[in-house]
Amino acid sequence: MLIFGIESSCDETSASVVRNGREVLSNIISSQIKIHEKFGGVVPEVAAREHLNSILPVINEAFDKASVKPDEIDAFSSTVGPGLVGCLLVGLNAAKTLSVVHNKPFIGVNHLNAHVCANFIDTNLVPPFICLLVSGGHTQIIFVKNYDKQEILAQTTDDAVGEVYDKVARLCSIPYPGGILLDKSAQKGNPLVFNFPEAKVKEDEFSFSGLKTAVLREVKKFKPDELPIDDIASSFQKRVADTLIKKLIYFAKKLNVKTLALAGGVAANSELRKRLEMLKEEGYQTYAPNLKYCTDNAAMVASCAYFNPIKSQNSLLLEVFSRD
Ligand code: KG4
Ligand code: ZN
Repeated sequence: MLIFGIESSCDETSASVVRNGREVLSNIISSQIKIHEKFGGVVPEVAAREHLNSILPVINEAFDKASVKPDEIDAFSSTVGPGLVGCLLVGLNAAKTLSVVHNKPFIGVNHLNAHVCANFIDTNLVPPFICLLVSGGHTQIIFVKNYDKQEILAQTTDDAVGEVYDKVARLCSIPYPGGILLDKSAQKGNPLVFNFPEAKVKEDEFSFSGLKTAVLREVKKFKPDELPIDDIASSFQKRVADTLIKKLIYFAKKLNVKTLALAGGVAANSELRKRLEMLKEEGYQTYAPNLKYCTDNAAMVASCAYFNPIKSQNSLLLEVFSRD
């Protein structure tokens, strides 16, 4: 089964053709980083207009690269939410139009479920497994019982991990996109220089706003040109990875689940991937999507349309939503 996927929930316009949810024939991504750089973050109105400019060339390239004609596609899919409404509308309308024109079903996809499904690409992973979903808007530990049956075991009560990465990067005068650049800086620093606190929270909670404040307090002690950015980044990154992996293992033991996965933009983080990899020595099977399937992309959308579509009587009536 060939599914065409479109992703446009934030600042990436992407289109992809995926066979049977696992084999990617094409995955074209047009990033808006250069455009939002000067604003220091994503401006929703600008992003939506930029999606309009990119969507048709990106769709055409996805067909070309896959050497597939629109008539050969079995279903067209797009992210329905959560995300920026104006941005989502561009992808949703493009996918619905393709489905009507070519008389094939339209499949709506939840963005968070799509991130989880990135783990099915190029692997033989089958549920049950526990997934740590860390993105710009979400931080969750999810028990994936089956392809379409999931339970949230823990989630953040305040900032998402990606959001904190972006905010701490800004405190350290690291430009947008902060997360990936902060990760690079962290790899050059000493993680033991600063002992940032770990939030005391309930079993089913994360909290990262205190950590952000602790970094701010430390940053203020230095003159801007004497700020030990690499050491701050490294110590911050260690605390984040410690906190996330500790809770992941806690639930893995509690539920006696031996298969663990990472998902979302922060799944590209070098320290987090290293820590997950180390769990293999403790008998866990671990999965982390290829870097190009961690941050927003349409291959995960097409995979999700195959494994975990949004169920509805008439999918053409599905509307975009901003929050889950
Ligand atoms: O999943 P994603 O592309 O978009 C959302 O659905 O939110 O995630 C974007 C987030 C941003 O906050 C970005 O800073 C973060 O992922 N990110 C990283 C890394 N690469 C991207 N954070 C830490 N380390 C990275 N290597
Ligand atoms: Zn995302």
